[in-house]
Amino acid sequence: MSKKYSVAVVGATGAVGREMLKTLEKRNFPVGSLKLLASARSVGKTFMFKGDEYFVEELTENSFAGVEIALFSAGGNISKKFAPLAVKAGAVVVDNTSAFRMDSEVPLVVPEVNPEDIFNHKGIIANPNCSTIQMVHALKPLHNYGRIRRVVVSTYQAVSGAGLKAVEELLEESQAVLNNKSYERKIFPHQIAFNALPRIPQSGGIEDGGYTNEELKMVNETKKILHDDSIEVTATCVRIPVVRSHSESVNVETEKHITVDMARKLLSETPNIVVVDCLEKEEYPLAATASDRDETFVGRIREDKTVKYGLNLWIVSDNLLKGAALNSVQIAEVLISKK
Ligand code: A2P
Repeated sequence: MSKKYSVAVVGATGAVGREMLKTLEKRNFPVGSLKLLASARSVGKTFMFKGDEYFVEELTENSFAGVEIALFSAGGNISKKFAPLAVKAGAVVVDNTSAFRMDSEVPLVVPEVNPEDIFNHKGIIANPNCSTIQMVHALKPLHNYGRIRRVVVSTYQAVSGAGLKAVEELLEESQAVLNNKSYERKIFPHQIAFNALPRIPQSGGIEDGGYTNEELKMVNETKKILHDDSIEVTATCVRIPVVRSHSESVNVETEKHITVDMARKLLSETPNIVVVDCLEKEEYPLAATASDRDETFVGRIREDKTVKYGLNLWIVSDNLLKGAALNSVQIAEVLISKK
């Protein structure tokens, strides 16, 4: 009989944790035993997995005895404290927070881009930032072919990236605005309903030069995943009133000429990328149709004639799946494929 694994999901009640459970089930990950961990607030809640009911347990220092694979998505501080304890107990951690992403001892992996890095882990493997994952997924084949020199990206990010409470806030505030009622915000610093916020506050502080952490994650993580510090990336990250799936406008400058047809071909040949690009038929990637889908969708592929060799792309993917839960489970799949 093939091996089954003892799996823990930390943050199982959250926006990403719930998708991790669904993804493990959907992809038939060889789960032998399953532990659902969250805060004391959630003890007693239940979730179904493959027809069985599982109770949520409180995350404690002793939660990881016997656990072989731990998927973390309960915030950076929880990962910083508990991931090393999980490793000490013998688990391999796939961490969906930013806690360890830039640690030189921790691989940062998108399985379609740098799967080989997974095997350099010392107990923790980091899942990149959601906006970075879908971008590098599409950039990799273009970089292999024409060497990317510079990337200018603007994101249009869904609120679910800030958790279930942020989704609630968008829905409730939208109702309030439509009914001309006041609304007391708890998550966003400004109205998110019918608005665009040019700052992702949940990602942390403001860094040098006024860039936000989310923007710097896109800069630094791209270089680490593509193993190329020479790629210049500049980002503007914006939260928009969409529940699910991030969209990105990406401008790329390359060393070698990449025609639109070649870009389409390279992208179409990349696993889990779907090119949706026919303006005449009004076909382009959309957040609404990318939601609940595993792939990264790319369209609006145009040459940028203002530079020697440039391309414009529109990249959309489900931030909770490829941007988080699915990518984490894919990492675990590659990990066990060698055992
Ligand atoms: P809980 O539901 O018990 O608060 P989201 O990103 O949707 O906000 O979800 C965050 C996840 O992190 C939830 O599963 C949440 O559990 C979990 N979490 C938050 N704080 C803690 C904590 N102190 N200990 C364990 N899990 C936590």
